[in-house]
Amino acid sequence: MLRARVATACRVHRSLPPSLRHARHASSLKLNSVGAEDIAYFSKILPPTSIISSLSSTPAAADELDQFNSDWIGRFKGHSTTVLKPKTTQEVSQIVKWCNDRKIGICPQGGNTGLVGGSVPVKDEVIVNLANMNKVRSFDPISGILVADAGCILQNLTDYVAPHHHIMPIDLGAKGSCQIGGNVSTNAGGLRLLRYGSLHGTVLGLEVVLPDGTVLDQLTTLRKDNTGYDIKQLFIGAEGTLGIVTGVSILTPPAPQASSNVILALPTFKNVLPLYQTVKRELSEILSAFEFIDRTAYDLAVKHGQGRALTEEEIDGAECFVLVETSGGRREHDEEKLNGLLENLLTADEPLINTGFVSLWALREGVTEAVSKEGKAYKYDISIPLSTFEDVVNSTREHLRSKGLLHEKAVKAVLGYGHVGDGNLHLNIVADAFLPEIQDALEPYIYEVVQSLRGSVSAEHGIGAMKTHALPYSKSQVSIGLMKKIKDVFDPNGIMNPGKVLE
Ligand code: FAD
Ligand code: MLT
Ligand code: ZN
Repeated sequence: MLRARVATACRVHRSLPPSLRHARHASSLKLNSVGAEDIAYFSKILPPTSIISSLSSTPAAADELDQFNSDWIGRFKGHSTTVLKPKTTQEVSQIVKWCNDRKIGICPQGGNTGLVGGSVPVKDEVIVNLANMNKVRSFDPISGILVADAGCILQNLTDYVAPHHHIMPIDLGAKGSCQIGGNVSTNAGGLRLLRYGSLHGTVLGLEVVLPDGTVLDQLTTLRKDNTGYDIKQLFIGAEGTLGIVTGVSILTPPAPQASSNVILALPTFKNVLPLYQTVKRELSEILSAFEFIDRTAYDLAVKHGQGRALTEEEIDGAECFVLVETSGGRREHDEEKLNGLLENLLTADEPLINTGFVSLWALREGVTEAVSKEGKAYKYDISIPLSTFEDVVNSTREHLRSKGLLHEKAVKAVLGYGHVGDGNLHLNIVADAFLPEIQDALEPYIYEVVQSLRGSVSAEHGIGAMKTHALPYSKSQVSIGLMKKIKDVFDPNGIMNPGKVLE
């Protein structure tokens, strides 16, 4: 059915008005490799410690370059000869202008924790790594507005605002390595989105080096600025395809006075939605997260030491688990509400849960790490209706079984976890190795399912290199046509993160 739909989409494309069709799209242009002349120029603007290159007079060892060329899941690998680590916006601007004039591709790189292959080159683009741009520029404890270099690590910013009783509006398992510029560029969701909303709301301003080297200074600290097109929104989630983010102005919320977590063990997935309804009703304003992990995800997290294991008696055959977090203004009040909720849940005539226990985030946050320790992960990060989470995980497992791929030497586990409050399922397939027959069984199968549910092929991780071919499953040809036009306006030479987001 999907093939038919894609064919229809292609016909629609041909009938689009000429303004939305493309004679030439930036990503199809030929790019040049870095050479001796380029290294000589980079050496004029950067100190030797900021250039890691196999072409320089003191050539970098292959394994030194390897860490910048390999992505976090070990699935995507680039062949860059040169990594540049500028310290200032001016340096970024000079590098980008030079590359644009010489038609050399650039791969912007933050903490390299992205899960869709966006942060490593597709070929031999120069890697511009932002790690040395790591200064806080200003913080106003009254408004809570933080202005920071894009290369600041999320955890460091969290620590910076903590003594002022503020928190970052975003939190994720990769916080110790990911950078705020990477978070903005992927429009990362994470564990606090339910409470604080997306970065499209909390980012107030950006400083961006455009593909021709021009510095776009929109680093405003205004809460309200209604002056026409909001250009900064285009860079939030652009995955480095429209420019390099060098500075971020972001609204940090006041730290909650009290916060508690409980993990609830559910006898069946069918109870997740009624539980969500009950929890929302009873906890109302203090509910700050409602996260889900299925039994396979729980078992893997425990197996790889990511959280406290419960006894089988305690779990009582639970089919899945939900983590509920509260964040509020008064501990006694919040605890009373949470305890009341637990009591009501456990004493109901038909209890929705088997048990509830006080927990840390370790178990939920640790699933990603546990999956990567177990094997090679095919990660699908999809938005679909909540009511279909379980069916989609189970039918994917059955689909793989029907293809004869569900055994130790191929697919070891199929699991689901994610952000129930955001309608975001992480469907992970853990395999012994990345094999073409598994890939062919998973795609387009999963994308067809997502399309049939009118979902999104990327809820929060982005498109990167992994899903460029999958965009039409959740975006119309008109939308994709406009995206290509925007790309061409910003980056006519196609130097900025080629092969990412758009084919
Ligand atoms: P990178 O991985 O370096 O880059 C990601 C993309 O952004 C690339 O396309 C890159 O070119 C571009 N980019 C990076 N910096 C810049 C810049 N300054 N200017 C322009 N482009 C840039 N993601 C979520 O959404 N929610 C989660 O809960 C979550 N949890 C995670 C947990 C773990 C354990 C791991 C490993 C990853 C998780 N991720 C999650 C994915 C990842 O951490 C996020 O996408 C994060 O925002 C990436 O930040 P980074 O600095 O590592 O960027
Ligand atoms: C999460 O929610 O844990 C992250 O998005 C990472 C992942 O999908 O594994
Ligand atoms: Zn997530």
